[in-house]
Amino acid sequence: MFIKFDAADGEALADFLAGERWPFHTIEIVERADVLKRVADGYYDDETYWIEADGERAGIVRLFDLEDETPMFDLRIGERHRGKGLGRDAVTWLTDRLFGEFAHVERIEGTTRQDNVAMRRVFRRCGYVKEAHYRKAWPDASGHKHDSVGYAILRRDWQTGETTVPDFHDE
Ligand SMILES: CC(C)(COP(=O)(O)OP(=O)(O)OC[C@H]1O[C@@H](n2cnc3c(N)ncnc32)[C@H](O)[C@@H]1OP(=O)(O)O)[C@@H](O)C(=O)NCCC(=O)NCCS
Repeated sequence: MFIKFDAADGEALADFLAGERWPFHTIEIVERADVLKRVADGYYDDETYWIEADGERAGIVRLFDLEDETPMFDLRIGERHRGKGLGRDAVTWLTDRLFGEFAHVERIEGTTRQDNVAMRRVFRRCGYVKEAHYRKAWPDASGHKHDSVGYAILRRDWQTGETTVPDFHDE
């Protein structure tokens, strides 16, 4: 179930984000105060949803750049709830929502670290295709630079269920 985040609920969001480590994000340890400031600044206003499972807030998904033809998203499932299909359900849901409700959206994009196997699996399962590979583009907290990878889905592919493969070998 996806419940729209209300800025009045900022404390709960701060508890959630500061209560976990996020090793595949640039900021692994999130400070409560930073979350509360972002809430006050309207950072989560575009569209942010709690992902509820078994009556609990299991995760959060933020959709952004909604005015663009290519919106993006940030998806985080709490550690206890990972590996149970919630990531896949969330990406399926947000893909249907963005293409279904926003007529101008032509593509949806997401980027992740190369070694984020679970997220890459979710992208592929949900019809997203790898379009980009950025070498040594994603520094972690220790300064080590990881490769990152970019995936996207086209409206056309969402409509037809087909997969348009990028024209990589064009040189
Ligand atoms: C990445 C993330 C969103 C995936 O969501 P999830 O609910 O854990 O994943 P799901 O249960 O939907 O699993 C989807 C697929 O990934 C596989 N998978 C899940 N966790 C895995 C892991 N740790 N290693 C390898 N594969 C994994 C599942 O087997 C499943 O594959 P299948 O469809 O072939 O059966 C979630 O783990 C998460 O929030 N991680 C931390 C934050 C993060 O990395 N966010 C993405 C930043 S871009």
